[in-house]
Amino acid sequence: MKRREFLKLVGISAFFMVVPRPVFAMGDTMGGSLDSMDQTGFVTPLLRPGHHGGMLGIFHPKKPFIISAKPGAATILPETKTDLLIYEVKGAMGGLINPVLWVKKGQQVAATLKNGLTYPTIIHWHGLIVDGKNDGGPGEAIPAGGSYDYSYQVRNRGGTYWYHPHPFGFTSEQAYRGLASFYIVDDEDEQRLRRSLDLRLGKTDIPVVIQDKRLDADAQLMYEPTEEEWFMGFLGDTILANLTPKPYLDVQTRIYRFRFLNGSNARIYRLAFVKGNEKKAFSIIGTDGGLLASPIEASEVFLSPGERVDVLLDLSRDKKGDVIFLKSLAFDPMDNEMGMSAVLALPNSMEEIPPNGAELYIMKLRVKTARAYSRPIPQELSTVSPIDVSNASTREILLSQTDMKWFINNVNYSDDPTFFPIEVAKNTVEIWEIMNDMLSMPHPMHIHGFQFQVLERIDSPQQVRDLTDAEGLLPTDKGWKDTVLIWPGEKVRIAIDFSQDFSGEQNYVFHCHNLEHEDVGMMINYRVV
Ligand code: C2O
Ligand code: CU
Ligand code: CU
Repeated sequence: MKRREFLKLVGISAFFMVVPRPVFAMGDTMGGSLDSMDQTGFVTPLLRPGHHGGMLGIFHPKKPFIISAKPGAATILPETKTDLLIYEVKGAMGGLINPVLWVKKGQQVAATLKNGLTYPTIIHWHGLIVDGKNDGGPGEAIPAGGSYDYSYQVRNRGGTYWYHPHPFGFTSEQAYRGLASFYIVDDEDEQRLRRSLDLRLGKTDIPVVIQDKRLDADAQLMYEPTEEEWFMGFLGDTILANLTPKPYLDVQTRIYRFRFLNGSNARIYRLAFVKGNEKKAFSIIGTDGGLLASPIEASEVFLSPGERVDVLLDLSRDKKGDVIFLKSLAFDPMDNEMGMSAVLALPNSMEEIPPNGAELYIMKLRVKTARAYSRPIPQELSTVSPIDVSNASTREILLSQTDMKWFINNVNYSDDPTFFPIEVAKNTVEIWEIMNDMLSMPHPMHIHGFQFQVLERIDSPQQVRDLTDAEGLLPTDKGWKDTVLIWPGEKVRIAIDFSQDFSGEQNYVFHCHNLEHEDVGMMINYRVV
């Protein structure tokens, strides 16, 4: 297809096309007051999960508990309250807000969701291996005032999972307005790692959710996607880490673990630690579904909405007074020209939102105290057994768009939310060959109910190939995944073992985790029979 035909098809004025694609480099300035594109500021301490109660307090759900989704508020900018939607669990500490759930592999979890919002919601436990009823997909959404009971065993490996709303059409707004938090599973491999490096959750093992928001002059969240933003995804200009804009973290000369979660609606990050002008090496130790077999050294990693990456950063040879930034490096968003229109067509043209791919400063680490620390990173973390694909059948999945509408195998969820285009036989292995159209944008594709393995990347863009190994795989492709980013023109083959011990048919969804895409129907039902 010629570009002009394509433009006519998607209905974007040719005016935007004469604007050259921006190249974002050090020194470019865009963005508002809390400009994430420069390294000034960083005067607010990072909010860390801990046993402090309140926002991101750690919660051990040993007994059945009630979790409410309701309006709330938090201090994001100094001396003002920002209205949010929150999850609240009442506990011994008073109210926990967006509690970080911490569970042991094998334990039972029983929770009741109470919907205190004015529209439907449901909690989805992202990455958890549960039956369809406990998965909390769009089919389980409950009305305002309703409640929903969950009861399941934690079958997952130790690792960093998360939870967020999933009502069709409302997920993006509810997640954007605050409904999301971590779900951490502990197991023996995790305990061993913790002991060998002396890691403590919230102190030296720090979950960090990265989100981009738009705040108005009164520090209130703005969320009114234009038609083009529903198509491209909604981007913010204020980058928050654990709801803190431009946070700093005081660190010691030792090893830290960061569990990064991209909880943004649509923004992709190319994460790197930068000291001066140098990228600082770190070790990737875990992915969506828990620890890798062994650490992989890296200097950057792409993280798309929904994905998690666990890293170890060794600061033992840094000096008191040193400063290291967590940044998102510039990259080509590969939005195939359409990305520009999203920037130019903002309702308020005073506001300039850094596009996907803009270079951003996210968090500042300040080396505060020197201490003796000589623990080496263990070379054996866990076991990751490859899925046996010798009897696997292959299913092709095509990601495409027509008339500013996204499709998975030519199906758009909004046309019929009861349609189940994919049925897989329980206890079989399938290879899904996910192919993204060339005239497209990157889509983080997520499956419910199972963790998968990436087998192969074909026709990856150069910026991805720069990071792949001899097999053509990224470090994050070496572990268990539930979300994988597929770039335009790229084909990614994944293996899914549909073995499960739940009785009866199980309904799940497979969708794009760009939350605007999800809400405009880039999602399909699938059933395990
Ligand atoms: Cu994190 Cu179906 O979602
Ligand atoms: Cu999920
Ligand atoms: Cu998408």
